[in-house]
Amino acid sequence: MKRIDAILPMVAAIIAAGCVVGVQVQASESDSQVRALEESQEDANVLYRQKVMATIGALMKGLGCVLKKECALDDKAVAQSAEAILFMTELSDTAFKAKTEGATVKQTTRPEVWSEWNKFKVGLDSMSSAAKELLEVSSKKKGKYIDSSIKNLSKTCKSCHDMFRTK
Ligand code: HEC
Repeated sequence: MKRIDAILPMVAAIIAAGCVVGVQVQASESDSQVRALEESQEDANVLYRQKVMATIGALMKGLGCVLKKECALDDKAVAQSAEAILFMTELSDTAFKAKTEGATVKQTTRPEVWSEWNKFKVGLDSMSSAAKELLEVSSKKKGKYIDSSIKNLSKTCKSCHDMFRTK
């Protein structure tokens, strides 16, 4: 009896230790699963925001073509492009908000986007004001202001890229 009395607590301790170890193994497995999930979500967010920016880039290329007099888009087409950029600016806000410092896919977004979000937001706002201005001058057919409005809009791209993109 004495021996069993002495052994039982030991067995209980070993089982308890085994349980704790078991729990720890489980915890670290689920930690890495969580990390993998976070990584894949961050990757998806990076790819999404690059698509949003690439769409703005494609629209802007069309406007650049007008500026260089290489393609003769009418004012209505210019206004529609400006409106589309305006809409994409709203998507950009959501697309950039999520932090993606842990993403594994290549990104050129600097972490300052999140640490200086208000400054980044000013950049997005100036893109949207410039797109609004272009929408206005092109829908009112104020032809001579169209070129300068396109230039103003493209300046907002460059100033944000200089600040918030890695080379
Ligand atoms: C407020 C900041 C900001 C503004 C304004 C902005 N961009 Fe960007 N843009 C970024 C950042 C940050 C990236 C980097 C995305 C990445 O790779 O993680 C980017 C990436 C891009 C890309 C590369 C997308 C890809 O496929 O990887 C293009 C093209 C682009 N921008 C075009 C434009 C154009 C054109 C404008 C102006 C009409 C503009 N952007 C305005 C911040 C901005």
